[in-house]
Amino acid sequence: MFTPRRGLVVVGPALALAIFFGGFVRTSSGQVNPEAFRRKIDGAQVELYTLKNKNGLEATITNYGGIVVSLSVPDKNGKLGDVVLGYDTLNDYIGNTPYFGSLIGRYGNRIAKGRFTISGVDYQLAQNNAENSLHGGRKGFDKVVWQAEKLDTPEGPALKLTYTSKDGEENYPGTLGCEVIYTLTNNNELKIQYAAETDKPTFVNLTHHSYFNLKDAGASDILGHELMIKSDKFTPVDKDLIPTGELRPVAGTPFDFSKPTAIGARVESDDEQMKFGRGYDHNWVFNRQGKELELVASLYEPTTGRFMEVLTTEPGMQFYCGNFLDGTNKGKGGTAYQHRTGLCLETQHFPDSPNQPDFPTTELQPGEKYTQTTVYRFSTK
Ligand code: BGC
Repeated sequence: MFTPRRGLVVVGPALALAIFFGGFVRTSSGQVNPEAFRRKIDGAQVELYTLKNKNGLEATITNYGGIVVSLSVPDKNGKLGDVVLGYDTLNDYIGNTPYFGSLIGRYGNRIAKGRFTISGVDYQLAQNNAENSLHGGRKGFDKVVWQAEKLDTPEGPALKLTYTSKDGEENYPGTLGCEVIYTLTNNNELKIQYAAETDKPTFVNLTHHSYFNLKDAGASDILGHELMIKSDKFTPVDKDLIPTGELRPVAGTPFDFSKPTAIGARVESDDEQMKFGRGYDHNWVFNRQGKELELVASLYEPTTGRFMEVLTTEPGMQFYCGNFLDGTNKGKGGTAYQHRTGLCLETQHFPDSPNQPDFPTTELQPGEKYTQTTVYRFSTK
């Protein structure tokens, strides 16, 4: 009885001071406490970094997994609110996360049976998703500590993260030097620039795994969000979510998002592909030429007026509508994330490309530089 009371007396002023000096970052679900992220893992320091642009938008990012912990953007009344799912503490992220907000590598999405061949050599990856390898294996880039450096750029505050993945890490060939720069631009964008180089031929497909909910950061479902994807085709999958290799027209199917459409409108459709995905969990092929940064998708939440545009240099995007969320993940402010309370728009190359000769290649050779840029741009309407 006595100890907790003393605890309260000690913690009370500390909390007040932290809030007074801006030590805590406010999100719609409370505050993110940087102390809850400060820890050494394998000798490397983990911290929570705050980026704030000149319009007051704020992102908190930890160098553990490059995770975007919170992202506060205004609604149509100018009220800031968090729009991503996640946890209040580093321990929660280490314990159990369906990749909330993290960087994904070396390979975003699935590689069939965890196998590929490169330069005549067969490689076997960890089969961490049924028979397949998902999101880089057992300890992907979402679970490693990145080196972090805060930058002040003309575009806005930024966080540069670097990580060297050793030759053979998670059984991938080649030492892969990676750099990711998150910039919270003064145009209200979260811009993510990726770069990587290898010393042996390898496969690379990096992406970002924020679960967005523009209404309330996961307190309610995302079914009323209106999604638009500039795409005429998607890559159908088998029951284990491995692409069949076909590029199938979306016209006349629940996969047609060429005009903004509520996610809930067709999510329970009888389409076999929707059954395989347990909802949307597929890769869309953008209508695009070349590799310039281009607008490829948008997301609108009518009650808050929040509007998010997605621009990328990538050829595809995995749209996953949180089908596997079931209330067991208790996130920020104690929110239990129920079915379909967050959605991911993972711009990337197509799943299983190492085994699909007709998909755009994800092979990286020594001397080449892998780059990808994705922008999530926020406004209201
Ligand atoms: C995949 C889902 C998977 C989720 C992990 C998504 O990128 O497409 O199938 O369950 O990541 O939380």
